[in-house]
Amino acid sequence: MRGYSVWQKNNPCGKRYPRLTGDISANALVIGGGIAGYLTAYMLARSGRKVALVEGYRLFSGTTGGTTAKITYHQGGIYPRLVKSSGISAARRYYEAQRAGMDELISLATEHNIDCSLSPIDGYIFSADGDEAQRIYAAMSDIGVRTELVRADTPVGSALAVRAEDQFIFDPLRFLRALPVGFEIYENTRVSRVDVEKKTAYTEEGSVHADMIVVATRFPIIDSHGSYIFRIRPSESYTIAVEGATLDATYLDAREDGLSLRPYDGGVTVGGLDRRTGTGDGHAFFALRAAAARMFGERRIAAEWSAQDCVTFDGVPYVGYYSPELRDVYVITGFGKWGMANSAVAARLVTDLADGRDNPFERLYSPARRRKGTFGAFLRNAARSAAYLIGGRLHFPLRGARSIEPGGGKVVRLHGKKRAVYKEPDGRLYAIDAMCPHLRAELRWNADSKTWDCPCHGSRFDRYGNLLSAPSVHSCKTHARLAAEEERNKKKKTDTSEADV
Ligand SMILES: Cc1cc2nc3c(=O)[nH]c(=O)nc-3n(C[C@H](O)[C@H](O)[C@H](O)COP(=O)(O)OP(=O)(O)OC[C@H]3O[C@@H](n4cnc5c(N)ncnc54)[C@H](O)[C@@H]3O)c2cc1C
Ligand code: FES
Repeated sequence: MRGYSVWQKNNPCGKRYPRLTGDISANALVIGGGIAGYLTAYMLARSGRKVALVEGYRLFSGTTGGTTAKITYHQGGIYPRLVKSSGISAARRYYEAQRAGMDELISLATEHNIDCSLSPIDGYIFSADGDEAQRIYAAMSDIGVRTELVRADTPVGSALAVRAEDQFIFDPLRFLRALPVGFEIYENTRVSRVDVEKKTAYTEEGSVHADMIVVATRFPIIDSHGSYIFRIRPSESYTIAVEGATLDATYLDAREDGLSLRPYDGGVTVGGLDRRTGTGDGHAFFALRAAAARMFGERRIAAEWSAQDCVTFDGVPYVGYYSPELRDVYVITGFGKWGMANSAVAARLVTDLADGRDNPFERLYSPARRRKGTFGAFLRNAARSAAYLIGGRLHFPLRGARSIEPGGGKVVRLHGKKRAVYKEPDGRLYAIDAMCPHLRAELRWNADSKTWDCPCHGSRFDRYGNLLSAPSVHSCKTHARLAAEEERNKKKKTDTSEADV
């Protein structure tokens, strides 16, 4: 998550929690303080456990802080995809799961009387050529979901669209912060290692031993089990908040990289332009602003931010046992940008598994499942990851720090070494190791969010190399000394040659 979302700007002050110092024990440890981890901690505590939740930074500072928070079963092309890969009954089961997740969130808001702008709203999924809208409508009809195929006046023009009534929108931060906390929370407490045999997670200044561990870090952080590095891909989206714009429904372009719009108190969010993390062209916010101006006229942009999520190959999240051999470690990941209702499903499912209760969605969400028709996507992702891992090691840049624009970043040659270098607008340089601390793919500069992103599995770092997103559990090694030497050299040099180091 980079830049502040409209929810974060409108509700800047959440309660602060201490950092973990020392060794503690709990019945259940939840790693990750996004919506998935928080709801899971809430439900595990409700079922009678002593729960500790540890968050690497601040609660809801990850993807949850940057969501567009539609609580909906109307999720792009998921139903035709599932009908094709797994049949009508699996697609219907997925729909039932979403309904259950929606009901869970709504009843929590009602039970605790939470003021979070929760409102019912119609949702439209449109496609410019109409084909995808027809496919979605046909699949939803096949599984018995009541929707309408209509010609709609969408904000981007008239288009064939599938309309579903009674979807919901809310303010996720106001909702989550108002849920009563029945568990211990530690912020600024990053888990750097999990010993699955000892069921202990180690942090910088302490450890947590627990009977069960839930990994809800968006991208799972235990690489030794589960093969998640091959089974999910990171996808980033960009969003802007257009102040004063109005809309009476939510609109989603059926194309994966199309636009998504929803109203909020005070305006409309316009987002989309999904792409694999680390492969952006640096023009996303410009493109969103231009699109918003065409739809709503020139208006003030109240916030702009980017966030990423993990995508599975069949579109269904992985929720359940981390791997077949690890029964006391659970995983929640792969929401594919549909994590609101799905987080409630996941929290309930993990709690049921831990309590030994049957859950109707266990098989559908099982991380151990195999689905037909997903092998091609698996191979393509594995090939891309391999290319990032090998290509980065073979790449040796020839250009030096002079080639970097002020305010920009680039992987360059600095004192004979490959470094990722950010140049402040005043010319100061910050050099970090160019290879991602996770599995050492080469980092890429994201000019939109001004971050160093890893296209391999989506770890992100700020311009100075501080860790922002998993799966890495470490920040980048910095090379402040090299950058300082570079500055001194630059001052001495009268020669303006490009090969300056
Ligand atoms: C732009 C965008 C729009 C979206 N819109 C919608 C929508 O309209 N409707 C919908 O249903 N879904 C939507 N989603 C998806 C939804 O927002 C996400 O699926 C959901 O927020 C993910 O929650 P999470 O708890 O899994 O992850 P996060 O919110 O990222 O939480 C994970 C937490 O784990 C912490 N962490 C990571 N590593 C460690 C560690 N080693 N130790 C301790 N803590 C750690 C992180 O700091 C982070 O806070 C959208 C997603 C995006 C990107
Ligand atoms: S190598 Fe895995 S995130 Fe960078």
